[in-house]
Amino acid sequence: MFKVEDIRKDFPILDQKIHGRPLVYLDNAATSQTPQVVIDAIVEYYQNYNANIHRGVHTLSQIATDKYEEARIKIQKHFNANKPYEIIFTSGTTQSINLVASGFASLISEGDEIMISALEHHSNIVPWQMLCEKTGATLQVIPMAVEGNLRMDVFHELLNSKTKLVFCNHVSNALGIVNPIEEIISAAHNVGAAVLIDGAQATPHIKPDVQALDVDFYVASAHKLCGPTGVGMLYGKQEWLEKLPPYQGGGEMIETVTFEKTTYAGLPHKFEAGTPNICGGIAFGVALDYMNAIGFEAIRNYENELLGDATEKLLQIDGLKIYGNTSEKTAVISFNIEGIHPYDIGAILDKLGIAVRTGHHCAQPIMDFYQIPGTVRASFSFYNTKEEVDRLIEGIQKAKLMLC
Ligand code: ALA
Repeated sequence: MFKVEDIRKDFPILDQKIHGRPLVYLDNAATSQTPQVVIDAIVEYYQNYNANIHRGVHTLSQIATDKYEEARIKIQKHFNANKPYEIIFTSGTTQSINLVASGFASLISEGDEIMISALEHHSNIVPWQMLCEKTGATLQVIPMAVEGNLRMDVFHELLNSKTKLVFCNHVSNALGIVNPIEEIISAAHNVGAAVLIDGAQATPHIKPDVQALDVDFYVASAHKLCGPTGVGMLYGKQEWLEKLPPYQGGGEMIETVTFEKTTYAGLPHKFEAGTPNICGGIAFGVALDYMNAIGFEAIRNYENELLGDATEKLLQIDGLKIYGNTSEKTAVISFNIEGIHPYDIGAILDKLGIAVRTGHHCAQPIMDFYQIPGTVRASFSFYNTKEEVDRLIEGIQKAKLMLC
């Protein structure tokens, strides 16, 4: 039995009023909230053992180093990576993608093709455009269908021996659609292309197994997973991480430095120049422990109930249209109401204590496809309730009355 009222007690931020009404937080796809155990881990770090890692012989440095490396192992186990050093700490999904894109500049050349999907966040479009500009490679796009799913027939037609890399999100941030990444990975490998999957929006709901997926790179951010902002991960198969050059030069990523020549440290340090977000990395591990204790299957089942309930009730509102109607979705609903700008709905919902995101959600090509300026996006987490779904519906009804 999923005890949401008990779970909510773990999140102090949820127990507050916004504009005089109890907060209904439905912007989880932008960032998730932080449970007390994670807040405690952050406080404990700064209160008891704040020190730089991998550098000092002193006790505090050793404690911090051990905890940071323990967190790496927690992340390795969570994603079922083969080795801890296949997990690279980054500042988040965007940096993870940029690290890979920048590394591939030396492995890609003119005439090569890079493929992304029409459902990408700007962070999985712009770095590849920059890579194409640098290398003369061509960017191909897997188009989307009106329901929001990818045109897999076109994907298979576009794939060819010139395709060197395929990038796709596991779940679309704007629509919540789960993409057929198994099919994408296996077909891309058949033509010798490497695959990077952006898991920023999938990982709060699905526990990926990178070895079973046989994916080359998988990236995610802690702050979507009940962890802090400013920390994320890159999983890369050892063979790929060894091939890629370092992303940044600096301390801790070297083996030897002279003015004539520098040799680089092994994995994972080659990609971890400078003092990292030590506290964030440790808290990321604690957040994964927290979510695993609840269980991702229980989380997904419960969120699916919320998704079903909210979808059914939203569709009863006259003039409301949901974008992204496929059977495989996470608990994200993007919608508009005929004749009303999404921003106006978002602003009224805020006055009613309800937090949603409005706009293009950093996915302008999707908005262009639907010829809309943006959507209202309600994104649910396992700590949301059916009562909150009802508050959203009432809020939209009120907004409609005021704006129509
Ligand atoms: N990428 C985050 C979102 O979709 C910020 O809202």
